[in-house]
Amino acid sequence: MIKDVYNNNKLFHHREKLVDISNKKIVSPVNFQIDITNKCNNKCSWCFYDIYPLPEFSRKDYLNPNVVKDVLKDFKEVGGQSVEWTGGGEPTIYPYFLEVVEFARSLGLGQAMVTNGKMLQGDIAEAVKDFDWVRVSLNSASAHTYKKVHGNDSYSRVVENIENFADIKNSECVLGASMIVNGDNYKEISKFTLLVQSFGVDNCRLSLPQTPENEKMFYEIWDEILDQMNESKTYADNDFTVFTNEDRIDTLSHKTKSTRCYYHHLTPSLGANGVVYPCCHFKYLPEFNLGNVNKVSFKDIWFGGKRKDFIDTIGENCKVSCWMNGKNTLADYIIKNPKDVPHLNYP
Ligand SMILES: C[S@@+](CC[C@H](N)C(=O)[O-])C[C@H]1O[C@@H](n2cnc3c(N)ncnc32)[C@H](O)[C@@H]1O
Ligand code: SF4
Repeated sequence: MIKDVYNNNKLFHHREKLVDISNKKIVSPVNFQIDITNKCNNKCSWCFYDIYPLPEFSRKDYLNPNVVKDVLKDFKEVGGQSVEWTGGGEPTIYPYFLEVVEFARSLGLGQAMVTNGKMLQGDIAEAVKDFDWVRVSLNSASAHTYKKVHGNDSYSRVVENIENFADIKNSECVLGASMIVNGDNYKEISKFTLLVQSFGVDNCRLSLPQTPENEKMFYEIWDEILDQMNESKTYADNDFTVFTNEDRIDTLSHKTKSTRCYYHHLTPSLGANGVVYPCCHFKYLPEFNLGNVNKVSFKDIWFGGKRKDFIDTIGENCKVSCWMNGKNTLADYIIKNPKDVPHLNYP
């Protein structure tokens, strides 16, 4: 089983691209994060798309399947490797989900999905069981807390879906369960970890939400969150990995400094409105709209003048609390000529 899936060191294997980026070449993207629909069958209290004013976001938007296919073809032709179906909204309620997944498969693209798990059953579960990874946002360890954070009673249904999917998925498909931690669910962090381990998932991811309150929402409860995350880590074993993103508190507190951004050259985002954005942080913001695939081909957007004009300055102008800072700092290190690496010969 592949274990350390969130490891930033994967970037070392993209050194050539990183060097090309630093030499101002346009490189092919590796992964494409696609919001096929902004419609959703949940109402999570922290959902980014409900709590921030995003001028180009509408819950009604979804992509035309023929446009998705054209984009996938272009993406593959320029050297793209994998697609992450995400949202926006909930990918599994997109009416053409099976069709676009099958099309991506026919192109030989790797696939992954972030889902709330409500529809991870039947044909959908069958269609995604050979994905590289599937991550289910369960966010709670009881029906009571589930309802508090998602506004509905689907806890046992999602749990059942996770357990069944763990049974039917291919062994190479990495199944994760995630919890966004807030004031309503933090007391359940370690219980959640134990529970999802018992459901047969391969990893769990404990993370913090980006909200307008930033780190302030954690002032009173941070010590207990850390205790619970530390306890959760003790449950890891050969078949189960625990990822804790407690360092995101520094990002939320704006203690991390923005660096030159390499990440967006490798992992762009496509909104359900058809617009290509440099990365997931900039989705639905008009100032980062690179062009719309309903009007222009993905290739033209990727290699076009508009993108060229500001890709080099995106990192410098990035005002958001960027989760990718660690990746960008590492990328900076990787592209340095070996002679610039301090004390290289003192390994
Ligand atoms: C927007 S959701 C879309 C996919 C699917 N509907 C789901 O909930 O898994 C993608 C991921 O973003 C996470 N997310 C949503 N709002 C967030 C926020 N304010 N801060 C951090 N992560 C957030 C979700 O928990 C999920 O893991
Ligand atoms: S399920 Fe996903 S898209 Fe839907 S409200 Fe929750 S976080 Fe947002």
